[in-house]
Amino acid sequence: MKHFISFFSIVLFFISVFTAYGMEDEEYSPNLIPKPQKTTVTGGTFCLNPSTIIISDDPFNAEYLAGILNSSTGFGIETGNSDDKEMDNAIILTIDPDSSIPQEGYILSVTPEKVVAKSSTSKGSFYAIQTLLQLLPPSVYGTPTGYEQWEIPCIEIEDAPRFPYRGLMMDVSRTFFDLDYIYKFLDWMAYHKLNVFQWHITDDNGWRIEIKKYPELTEKGAWRGPDEVLPAAYGSGNKRYGGFYTQKEIREVIEYAAKRNIEIIPEIDMPGHSKAVISTYPHTGCDNETHFVSVNGEVKNVWCVGNEQNYKMLDDIIKEIASLFPSKVIHVGGDEVNMDNWKACSKCHALMEREGMEQEAELQNYFMRKVERIINKYGKTMAGWDEILDGGELDPGSIIYSWRSVAKPLQAVERGYRTVLQLSEYLYFDMKQSPAERGHNWAAIIPLEKVYSLDPIGTSDIPEDKENLVLGAQGALWAELLNKPARFSEYQYYPRTCALSEMVWTNQGSRNFKDFEERLEKTHFERLFHMGIAFRIEAPGVTYKENRLMVTLPYDWAVVRYTTDGSEPDCNSNIYTGDIVTFEPEKFKFATFYKDLFKSITVTADNIKPDYLKPETVIETSFGEQRSFPKSNVSDYDFDTYWRTERTGVAGDYVTYIFKEPVKCNKITVNTSIPNIDLYGVTDGYIEYTYDGKEWKKGDKMEDNAATLIPEKGKAIKGVKIVFTDSTDALCVALQDLRIE
Ligand code: ACM
Ligand code: ZN
Repeated sequence: MKHFISFFSIVLFFISVFTAYGMEDEEYSPNLIPKPQKTTVTGGTFCLNPSTIIISDDPFNAEYLAGILNSSTGFGIETGNSDDKEMDNAIILTIDPDSSIPQEGYILSVTPEKVVAKSSTSKGSFYAIQTLLQLLPPSVYGTPTGYEQWEIPCIEIEDAPRFPYRGLMMDVSRTFFDLDYIYKFLDWMAYHKLNVFQWHITDDNGWRIEIKKYPELTEKGAWRGPDEVLPAAYGSGNKRYGGFYTQKEIREVIEYAAKRNIEIIPEIDMPGHSKAVISTYPHTGCDNETHFVSVNGEVKNVWCVGNEQNYKMLDDIIKEIASLFPSKVIHVGGDEVNMDNWKACSKCHALMEREGMEQEAELQNYFMRKVERIINKYGKTMAGWDEILDGGELDPGSIIYSWRSVAKPLQAVERGYRTVLQLSEYLYFDMKQSPAERGHNWAAIIPLEKVYSLDPIGTSDIPEDKENLVLGAQGALWAELLNKPARFSEYQYYPRTCALSEMVWTNQGSRNFKDFEERLEKTHFERLFHMGIAFRIEAPGVTYKENRLMVTLPYDWAVVRYTTDGSEPDCNSNIYTGDIVTFEPEKFKFATFYKDLFKSITVTADNIKPDYLKPETVIETSFGEQRSFPKSNVSDYDFDTYWRTERTGVAGDYVTYIFKEPVKCNKITVNTSIPNIDLYGVTDGYIEYTYDGKEWKKGDKMEDNAATLIPEKGKAIKGVKIVFTDSTDALCVALQDLRIE
């Protein structure tokens, strides 16, 4: 028995060390993300133990490191004072402001005796800590496992970031995120050496920051739903939805972030995207009678430029923001204004006449310049989306956030402005990661590799003498589609944020996607797991050929599970181990699992498409016609096109599909919402069906914007009707063709 135990513990030791370190191959690689600029593995290890001591010139950094190490190792490692810098069995973090190490850079040296990190600022020291954590087993981010060997490979690393601005943007207006999530989010950013959090804290669908002088902004403007000033939207349904942060809460978040070298830039979006303000204080909007619709489908969401009183209110708001946020930068949006509002407003019109303006874009410039002067008066710099340059020049110190195309960063720097890249086609994490996944697709489908492929200088052909005007880049998650499934925000941010982190940190010449992917798959996924992130994993590839279903595993370690009856695979489903022989491939569903805790999307064989019936169909409805997305789109059996109604849905509305000839079929699926983009569906309702065109029977309730009908055996269906039982939570309803099998 003794022999068995020692053999067993040796095996366990090797398994834990080898898997944690990605040491299956002879050549040791620490699989760091972002990849440091220069790494030399020197051989041997430093072994962390309960008497290891942390000595740091920055007391917070020492406590931070001890906190993480102690919660995973359970060692009770202590922090010492800075006189003990020659000690062995120590982690020594020195800061020498006179050294030539760049601001956020560090030199890390691990020998069997000790770990020494040198830097010129506490920021550099903080990043040495992040690298050190990644040199330990991935469970360093978690809680004690009881079997881990806490070894750090001996190594020399010299590192500093390529860009000073490495950010993420979070939209808390369309979906409200609580403080608990914000704190975790900041921790995850710090682990990836990201240093700017742009808090998109106001938009059409909710004002989320307390302003003491205008309490109604949060008393009313932070809430939507029945009887609120804002209508329900984005899955809030028929209940009150919302929330906001008090200034005290925000101050605490800022302090927490600052300790982790993260600057928080607030974004108060104006003059468009302002429905929350204008619904709360209607005099701030224009006096036009006609309601012009924004690209997000909103009306009455633009500040009136010609109402001089508005600048007093904006001054009051900006004054509070400026004193709350230590950041030098205040972001004021400036994007996607429907300027027809101004054209039709008497005050805006009068201002144009008075100032001799010819185009509405000049009004936008007038507005931005006035806001810019207020921001500058409070000692801050203005930032905004690239539209703020459309109507004229700004203060040369203002910062342009380029999003609309790869041409925008170049235009900004050529006009002498500093720019941050948040290019929609690379960095909008609300875009789908593959065609079958949840998300938008208007900018692009954005898989991991696409994020990684961006070079903030090269992609936009920035000339060498303007490179220093490119501050960096950030990923953005607009929050329309985050109401489900659970933790979808984490799925959208990770691992794309890992690719972003390396893109902004590591020099272009040292980056290689295949190499990044290998580090991610071998080790970093496991780090994300211990960090507590519900990250995305890739679905298996499935093909049907010669009566066999064949699966390609997306990762070496992937576990693929499947069902044989069309149901969703779960952690009890069969594990795929080899080709499956079947004559009914359409009944098989597959998904990749990570530790049986989270899974990929579910897929069927990619080369079998259901053959839907396409009977001639007439639509009868309580809705009117809409030109761009006409009603005829739901009877043409082109499943990519859809009908968008001219108004929101209300109780009593109906859409009836009548077949010219009754249809014999096994199943009819009634889908609403934009195809593959779960927006504008029928939230509350049910279906009815008829065999004879006269007598209607009640069918299933709408669930997740869809319902199915299984006709009685042998009976042909004459018609299907969607009956609305409550208001939908968008300004229109999207309907699709029936899928008849
Ligand atoms: C934006 O996507 N409207 C900046
Ligand atoms: Zn106006």
